[in-house]
Amino acid sequence: MQADPQRIDACVQRLRSGGLVAFPTETVYGLGAIATDEAAVGRVYALKGRPSSNPLIVHVDGAESARRYVAHWPERAQRLSEAFWPGPLTLVLPKAPVVPGVVTGGGETVGVRCPDHPLTLALLETLGEGLVGPSANPSGGVSPTCAQHVRDAFSEAQVMVLDGGACRAGIESTVLDLTTTPARVLRPGVLGAERLSEVLGEPVEGPGGEVGDGEVRSPGVLGPHYAPRARTCLYETGEELAALRASCRGLLVVLSPVEERVAGEAHVLRLPEDAGGYAARLYAALREGDALGAAMIAVRRPPFREGSPEDRAIWEGVLDRLSRAADSE
Ligand code: TXA
Ligand code: MG
Repeated sequence: MQADPQRIDACVQRLRSGGLVAFPTETVYGLGAIATDEAAVGRVYALKGRPSSNPLIVHVDGAESARRYVAHWPERAQRLSEAFWPGPLTLVLPKAPVVPGVVTGGGETVGVRCPDHPLTLALLETLGEGLVGPSANPSGGVSPTCAQHVRDAFSEAQVMVLDGGACRAGIESTVLDLTTTPARVLRPGVLGAERLSEVLGEPVEGPGGEVGDGEVRSPGVLGPHYAPRARTCLYETGEELAALRASCRGLLVVLSPVEERVAGEAHVLRLPEDAGGYAARLYAALREGDALGAAMIAVRRPPFREGSPEDRAIWEGVLDRLSRAADSE
């Protein structure tokens, strides 16, 4: 996709004057503000209704820029950024003093990531600054995977949208904590621990929201999140689906990669069978469920242990999001 220089300039202007810009990435749309502009970052939290303890990722145009926001850029970060940036990998490192506490939820670490989208890379290069970028949705809701999803939630006066089409990957980046040994996946995403470990040449621990002392390392991975308005339930068998139909008063919307037969009022949205296609489509399908007026959305539990290591990593990310969407009732 070609960058329209005028649109990029308008976005840069909006950001430099303390405003917010939603930017496309390969995962989901981000809600951008200049990372060192405390007031603008505060507006991001306020607009999303996000708890101030949940830290934001700083988006940069490459490893060189990332170094500005971290206290130390270890060899491990260099390797991973060479292998996966631009791409769906966020690296958590000790923060540099230039990063205000409001970005990090008051903590001493910061997540940095270089997103893989030509428009956003052009925006970051023109701007010459890093952007915070939580997913551009009200906190707790489903992340936006196209510009219209952002416009559905926020007005142009609140957020200028840089339209870069539909997001390819569809689920958020893998968040990897590099402040520990072994490194640890805090949020599963498209890149799995196995692949990261290969590149690092050392073990990488799989996801888990807490460390031994109960300290929460990645606040955004706890509690209800990624949830549509309708009650969301996972099922595995035809009998379970029939039981959900029986317990649902109103329209049941079913999300499944296989053909489903449902007796009664139901609308089946067929999802792609391959992991990549499924992830890319999932959030839009959850939103369609809401738009159809679903009283309940039933999602067939994905086969998350099957396929290549790449596929398994995606299924794990998908299952993580679905489990937390389904938690919300
Ligand atoms: O793919 C993505 O990561 C998208 C696109 C826009 O880049 N962004 C995104 O941001 O998903 P957000 O704010 O919705 O999720 C960021 C996640 C949260 O779970 C947050 O707790 C975690 O990353 N996180 C950010 N900084 C952290 C830090 N310093 N330590 C631990 N976890 C951190
Ligand atoms: Mg989010």
